[in-house]
Amino acid sequence: MRTPARRTRIRAAGAAVSAALLLGLAATPAAHAGTADETGKTDQARPTETLGKLAKKSGRYFGAAVDNPELADTAYADLLGREFNATTPGNGMKWYATEPQRGVFDFTAGDEIVDFARANGLKVRGHTLLWHSQLPDWLTSGTWTADELRSILKNHITNEVKHYKGKVFAWDVANEIMNEDGTYRENIFYKTIGPGYVADALRWAHAADPKVKLYLNDYNVEAIGPKSDAYYQLIKQLRADRVPIDGFGMQAHLALQYGFPDRMPQNVRRFADLGVDVAITELDIRMILPADAAKLAEQADWYRQVTEACLAVRRCVGITVWGYSDAHSWIPAVFPGEGAALPWDENLHHKPAYAAIRAALQQAH
Ligand code: XIL
Repeated sequence: MRTPARRTRIRAAGAAVSAALLLGLAATPAAHAGTADETGKTDQARPTETLGKLAKKSGRYFGAAVDNPELADTAYADLLGREFNATTPGNGMKWYATEPQRGVFDFTAGDEIVDFARANGLKVRGHTLLWHSQLPDWLTSGTWTADELRSILKNHITNEVKHYKGKVFAWDVANEIMNEDGTYRENIFYKTIGPGYVADALRWAHAADPKVKLYLNDYNVEAIGPKSDAYYQLIKQLRADRVPIDGFGMQAHLALQYGFPDRMPQNVRRFADLGVDVAITELDIRMILPADAAKLAEQADWYRQVTEACLAVRRCVGITVWGYSDAHSWIPAVFPGEGAALPWDENLHHKPAYAAIRAALQQAH
């Protein structure tokens, strides 16, 4: 339960917040009957459609990432299984987890999430085949020739993609490969193999599962700017070279203090116009703590804007939030003093963002 003190604090600042948002804030999770939603009707009078069902009506998904230990939180796992129609393993499919020793594969963590997803009718985005972070020690501490690392990369991608063939609908093949200024990040693959590793990775993934959708994925690419421009040019070139590339993932780890990404709707559209899908893959909108009603209202407005930016473009295929409740969010550990980034609070109660997302999804059809 939320404490009365917290509710009073939020209500006291309520002048800045619309009545609809306050009602959204007061609503309890979807399946609990008898609470008012933003229309003033009750869940009993009109069963609330989940975000997943609303997204599906326009042919899209609305997903939430989950990390394996969170599945033990049964209230959290239950709501995840009910509310969403897609999920992404927060860590379970990363290299450190899947190939802890060279050539020794362990798909336990990823399989657990695939099994949970299947049992609850969720689709799974695979994340991620190649990244500079969360690599196993044997890989980062080794010294490799270009040929050796190419063969290590090929073996990793081939094994993981084959294992999850038919179980994931998309892969983040390469994650965070660009710098802010649009140059290639000097990760171990770039430094050892050169920029051609990206096309190689896409080709190997395609060979292992010709049906799975292959994405490049990064943060700070929601706005039009040097970093998204670099991806725009790269994807254009990859397509011209007939390299299998199906999608561009915008992580969308946003923060109120930095402003809403410049021209995000136009940016989503220009990637779609290149002939690839776009997905919002890791959405969260953090703020400097403590949260207050004004910040939560602004956050809700940003969630609405992101949802609408996706819904406006046919090839924007879905939105995934990076966790759904402030109880399980990566933000506080990585950005000290920041948090409250997700549409549900730490007690699994809706925040204003939830009603804003719903309203945007409802308007799409
Ligand atoms: C994060 C996880 O959520 C954390 O549990 C982990 O400690 C670090 O990685 N961009 C990504 C994700 O592509 O894989 C990251 O996930 C968040 C930033």
